[in-house]
This record gives sequence, structure tokens and C-alpha cells, in this order.
Amino acid sequence: MDFTLSRRISGVQGSIIRELFKLGVDPNMISFGGGNPSAETFPVAEIAEIIDRVLKDNPISVLQYGLSEGYPPLREYMKQYLAKKGIDFEKNDLLILSGAQQCCDLVTKALVNEGDVVLTEDPAFIGCLNTFRTYGAKLVGVPMEDDGMDLAALEAALEANPNAKLLYMIPNFQNPTGGTTSSEKRAKIYALCAAHGVAIYEDDPYGEIRFSGTPLPPIKAGDSEGIVFYAGSFSKVMAPAFRLGYLVFPKELLQPITVGKQSTDVHSNTLLQHVCYEYMTGYDFEGHLEKARAVYRKKCAHMLAEMDAKFHPDIHFTRPEGGLFIMAYLPGGKDAQPFVRKGIEKGVLTVPGVAFMADTNGVSSGFRLNYSMPSDEQITRGIDILGALTHDYLAEKR
Ligand SMILES: Cc1ncc(COP(=O)(O)O)c(C=O)c1O
Repeated sequence: MDFTLSRRISGVQGSIIRELFKLGVDPNMISFGGGNPSAETFPVAEIAEIIDRVLKDNPISVLQYGLSEGYPPLREYMKQYLAKKGIDFEKNDLLILSGAQQCCDLVTKALVNEGDVVLTEDPAFIGCLNTFRTYGAKLVGVPMEDDGMDLAALEAALEANPNAKLLYMIPNFQNPTGGTTSSEKRAKIYALCAAHGVAIYEDDPYGEIRFSGTPLPPIKAGDSEGIVFYAGSFSKVMAPAFRLGYLVFPKELLQPITVGKQSTDVHSNTLLQHVCYEYMTGYDFEGHLEKARAVYRKKCAHMLAEMDAKFHPDIHFTRPEGGLFIMAYLPGGKDAQPFVRKGIEKGVLTVPGVAFMADTNGVSSGFRLNYSMPSDEQITRGIDILGALTHDYLAEKR
């Protein structure tokens, strides 16, 4: 049969990262291209113990259909957890959803019509950019600086796009840049969006894995106008295969978002919601987070030290305070794709910044490096190779 693809899907390209992943499978390739959390951080023994127990004690409730809103004790617990970070649950509600990815999907489904503008940090997480694309949104990128969006560019984008519905941002340890939006910029971004009547989608899957610096309150914590959606995830603090996350949103949207969830996947995995709840309330969750932070702190420090020693000094790179990624930039705004290709030829995989851009035909001088998955030895060898390439690259340019 001759299928005609829907407009929703036909405009969306497959992710360059998925293509690059295939190269990462080559055992000889050193991959800084992935984005998975380190498997060292999964609490495997405790998960096994809890699953065993809940299946014995409570088999029906963990195997039967559950509520679309989420497992009630976990939902209540997450409200208390986030209230401690300053989020108000008088005016907001929370749903347990199938990962932060689904949080984005359901907010877009509820609010964005075909042709509406979604403003986004540029570059930003491709999974959410593709969600906006599949709903027919027009993406308008706002360039990133090390401490968050370029505010003058944001203001100009808000002025130029009166039909903008949402601003997409990842304030903590951004994917792909690794940067954190400063508290000054958070306040200004909020004020600008409130003045222009644009909602903010605050995507925070990495917030719990801050390994240095001072934690900043979520933008949602100061949301006096009720314009912020806040998404968190269990992927980086439990395991990504759980496919669990949570969305905080203005209470009046409970019904449409719940209906959106029902028509997508009915409810999130009940057994694993029990596991999260039991683990957070019956085990040392804070101790677990500390251990995970220590893993990433060490890996990030190692990669940064290698880059400081081996990269050409004209290559700028971010210094993350958490999360999984560093972004490096070639000087002069030059397209990083040929450099990334050379790295691959020499056996080191990174992801060119263009993969994360609102305009996929744009040019990015950045390339993303992941430090959570490679071993220490792979980081040393891989940065040796990339470092030599940065010197070759700059020698050629002179
Ligand atoms: C910025 C960002 N948002 C959302 C997600 C999706 O998270 P989840 O696994 O909870 O769906 C990711 C995953 O890498 C991410 O980097």
C-alpha cells in the first residue's frame, strides 16, 4: 500500500544521535556520544528486593490497571518532596507520567496547535524539539550563552512572535551544553514571559545530580502568575528503563492533561511506581543521590582536567556543575561537523551541535561530550585523540 505520512510525522527527521549510536556500538570506538546515566548508579539490589516484596505482598495492585494520575502515595510523596524546594501545591497539581519525555508530549498536546510558535533554548534536547515538531509547532531558537539564554535575543523573539505559546528551557546542566541558567537570568526570563503571556516549560531531569556549586530554586518555585510547567524524572536517579517522571502544572489543567494521558498510554508502570515510592521512603534515597553525584563529579572532573591539559586553548568549553554533558566550541563560529567526522575517523565519537538545533539546517560550532558512560581510561585516551585534533584544526586554520 502507498502510505501517505501525516504532516505531524513527515516533517520530523530521525535523530542524528540515533544514527551516531550505531557507530558507538563498534567496540573500538570511544564513545562520548551517548547520553545514558552511568549504570554504576542503578540501585540494582534494592530494586530486586522491593520487586520481590511487593509481588509477594501486593500482587494485584502492582499488576492490575492503575490510575492515570499515578500511584497515589508516590504522587503525594512527590508533592511533599517538591514543596520542600518551594513549589506550591495550593495552585498546582502533579501527575506521575511515563518519563520527562511524556511530560513534554502531554503539555504540547494540551496547549499547542499546528502553526503555533514554541520558543526554545538553542541548542536544546532533541527529544523535546521533536515532540514540538510532531505537533506542528514552529520552533524559534534563542541562542545559548554559558549562563543561559541570550536575553536580548529572547526579548526580540517574544516581540517578533506574538503567537508564541511556550518557552522550552532546561535550566540545570542543560542538554547539550552542560550550562546552568543563572538566578539573575531565571528571574528575567520569568518576567519577560509573564509580560508577554508565554508559558514556560521548565525541563529538569538533571536537577538532582548537581555535584558542585549552589543549588538554585526551580523557576516554578517563584511562579506567582501560574505560567510554569515543571518536569522531573526518575531516569537519572533510579533507572531510565522505568520510564517514570512527574509533571507539575497549574491545577486548572488537571482534566485535559489527564485525558491526554489516557489516550496515550492509560497510566504509567504501576510496579515501578511502587518501587520508586518504596525506595524513596524506605531506603537511604539521599545517600543514593550522593553516591550518584560522586560518580559524576569524578568523571566530569577527570574529563575537564584532560581537556584543560590537551585541548588547544582557543577551544572554549562549558564547566558543568551537574548532569552528564560538556559542550566544546570551535573558534570563529565554524561548523563543527567536519571536526566531529575527523574524530570518528580516529575512533572518538562526539555529537555535533547542529543535532540539537531548532533549525536543523543551521550551523553550530559546538560538539557535545558525554562523560557518564566512558571509563576513566577511555576518557583519557579519547581526549588525547580529540586534543591532538584541536591542535591540527587550529594549525590548519592559520
Ligand atoms: C533535557 C531532557 N529532557 C527530557 C529527557 C527525557 O527524560 P526521561 O527519560 O525522563 O523521559 C532527557 C533525557 O535525556 C533530557 O536530556
